[in-house]
Amino acid sequence: MGGGRNGKQQQKSNNAKNELPSDPSQYTILKEGQADILMHGNDVFYNKTQVVNRDLSIAVLRTFVAKRKEENAAMWAKKQDQKTSTSSAQPPPELAACESSEMDASISAFDGEANEAATDVDKVQSEKENGENGGAQADVAGQVAGVSDEVAKPVIKKVGEEPRPLRVLEALAASGLRALRYAREVEQVGTVVALDNDKVAVEACKRNIKLNGSVASSKVEAQLADARVYMLTHEKEFDVVDLDPYGSPSVFLDSAVQSVVDGGLLLCTATDMAVLCGNNGEVCYSKYGSYPTRAKYCHEMALRILLACIESHANRYKRYIVPVLSVSVDFYIRVFVGKCNKKQPA
Ligand SMILES: C[S@@+](CC[C@H](N)C(=O)[O-])C[C@H]1O[C@@H](n2cnc3c(N)ncnc32)[C@H](O)[C@@H]1O
Repeated sequence: MGGGRNGKQQQKSNNAKNELPSDPSQYTILKEGQADILMHGNDVFYNKTQVVNRDLSIAVLRTFVAKRKEENAAMWAKKQDQKTSTSSAQPPPELAACESSEMDASISAFDGEANEAATDVDKVQSEKENGENGGAQADVAGQVAGVSDEVAKPVIKKVGEEPRPLRVLEALAASGLRALRYAREVEQVGTVVALDNDKVAVEACKRNIKLNGSVASSKVEAQLADARVYMLTHEKEFDVVDLDPYGSPSVFLDSAVQSVVDGGLLLCTATDMAVLCGNNGEVCYSKYGSYPTRAKYCHEMALRILLACIESHANRYKRYIVPVLSVSVDFYIRVFVGKCNKKQPA
């Protein structure tokens, strides 16, 4: 396979492309949240109006992390209580302490979280109205739905320990801005894989990782890959999968629902509002499996169509979704859903 003189030259040129630019005057640095990215004309996609989308996603991830931690501690305390109440029948503490801590956590994840996230929507919205987040007009219809006892359950492996760091997949990463923000702004994010199938985007992403210093470099990894293939070949490997496509996410959904761990989160944007809002019913049916009507409530309907589509893909793999937060903002919709294994009938 690849090697020899040409291979080495190619490798060298790839390395050179990932170095920070020797002539910084060709680039401008754009700052968003705690991340910086290098901009060079329009070579890589950046959409300023999606700042709210990224801010909101960070708020949801932070809440997810906090809840996970809380539930882990509660589970640990419960386990300790059980041990104490049966201690007479137990081996001496030094032996009991050797017991494996691997056990199921029963978690009431997202209790209250939905409210916190809704507050964050309000906050983001009011910041936006005050012109702090891009100033575009917002129509944030925060639909907070479905609080579940199971959403974060399987993410936690060991009771009594800190939950392990989150593994995040940004499947459609472009410049890597979102991946970098997750790594820098969300406590407990351990790794972020930033994928793109466009070489120029991946090179830009690698440069941006370097630009953001050692924490970003240790956590974020840029890869050139087709997101669909990658997700299919990384089954149940990510606690969080983020889909932020151009237009419709429909072609990514089947592999995305398989790539999230039980109890993980899937974050999904759709910008094909004309289709979802009924301008072309046949296209909507072919992409999402629902036939839209043209109505005033079309944004809410769009959310429901997207959620139903994700659910139908999840059901194929004996899983179901728990909608955590669903919003219609500007020209797009975004849903945050928990993934759960389907319960076996008793
Ligand atoms: C809307 S941009 C992503 C923006 C980014 N998430 C952000 O917040 O700045 C969509 C990206 O998906 C990439 N893309 C499209 N199809 C893909 C595929 N099948 N696999 C991987 N990346 C893909 C495009 O090259 C593009 O960079």
